[in-house]
Amino acid sequence: MPDTAAPVTTSPLSDRLLAMNEPATIAMVKKARELMATGVDVINLSFGEPDFQTPQYIKDAAKQALDDGYTFYTPVPGIPELRQAICDKFKRDNQLDFLPNQIVVSTGAKQALANAVLSLVNPGDEVIVFSPYWVSYEEMVKLADGVTVELRGTLANEYKVTAAQLEAAITPRTKLVMYSSPCNPTGAVFSREELGAIAEVLTRHPQVYALADEIYEYINFVGEHASLAHFPEVKDRVITVNGFSKGYAMTGWRLGYLAARPDIAAACEKMQSQITSGTCSISQRAGLAALRGGRASADEMVAAYRRRRDLVLDIVKDIPGFNTPTPSGAFYIFPEVSAYFGRTTPDGSVINNALDLALFMLNDAHVSAVSGDAFGAPECIRFSTAAADDKLVEAFRRIRASLAKL
Ligand SMILES: Cc1ncc(COP(=O)(O)O)c(C=O)c1O
Repeated sequence: MPDTAAPVTTSPLSDRLLAMNEPATIAMVKKARELMATGVDVINLSFGEPDFQTPQYIKDAAKQALDDGYTFYTPVPGIPELRQAICDKFKRDNQLDFLPNQIVVSTGAKQALANAVLSLVNPGDEVIVFSPYWVSYEEMVKLADGVTVELRGTLANEYKVTAAQLEAAITPRTKLVMYSSPCNPTGAVFSREELGAIAEVLTRHPQVYALADEIYEYINFVGEHASLAHFPEVKDRVITVNGFSKGYAMTGWRLGYLAARPDIAAACEKMQSQITSGTCSISQRAGLAALRGGRASADEMVAAYRRRRDLVLDIVKDIPGFNTPTPSGAFYIFPEVSAYFGRTTPDGSVINNALDLALFMLNDAHVSAVSGDAFGAPECIRFSTAAADDKLVEAFRRIRASLAKL
């Protein structure tokens, strides 16, 4: 009899999916939740999420939007009033001129970034990602069949990549450069001069585009926010991404945007039209109110983030083996922790890397944080400082006590 048995398939899932990693931030939160479900009091410093409520005037605008019947599909790149308000915001905060046809509103800054990567990157194109980087950049490049080229800033330079490093990394295959400023995970902020030097390098390489992720713009402790798009010689090749999640504490509303040359914005709109048809109508009305309200609510939250950063740095400076640059923005600290590698825990296991150390802190100190591997820096650990002051003090007190056992 012929053998008619169907071949054994190992997985029905696509190679593309199988090659993708789950965000380490989400994986760590899952582990923390499992421990919490057993009754353990875990302090979660894994997530990149403001602990503030969305300001009331923004919530009110969303309620009003429902009552006013904003329940239909919107134009794919966003409602016209919001696109105009985003242009006004760019003018007011960044002295940048954009027209509404250069703005695409998306389901979070995350979708804006994905739209841009998928619209620009061909298979085999090199994408230079400034490292340490936000977890999703590399996976987005993979989805586009691009090749990530990690470019590592030095600890001495607060992990910021220099123009000279960029010049040396560009090849004829380079298509895109991606970075965040203020940076998640390091909190580093590029100055206008540093971005000017990067713009100068890009001027010499007209095939290279830049994706500037400015989602933490408002959470800046040094004052000036500089944008690569300021520099006229490269403005046409810069895609500027921003959103509402961090500055307005609107993570759950899923609202972000990009600003780009009209043809690139149109490409991102086309990409989005086949994937989400644009974001939630009610969130867009809320975003409009947020922008019209200016940045006063953000400034209040930033004062708290700054206070917490200082509080945490004050404790962390007494933790041996934590080499922690002072963050200039965002709400993380990112200590270099390799001094603990090779040490043995009280139960006899060896800490081989930052993941082992993060797991030890979760199990012993009941504090969850994310290993730097996910950000391209396997000798570091990221702690979010977006938590109440007393929780932060307690978390780092526990960590200090646990590390003393190693
Ligand atoms: C650097 C960076 N870019 C983009 C995002 C995504 O933001 P959104 O919630 O608007 O999708 C995050 C969120 O953590 C982030 O840290």
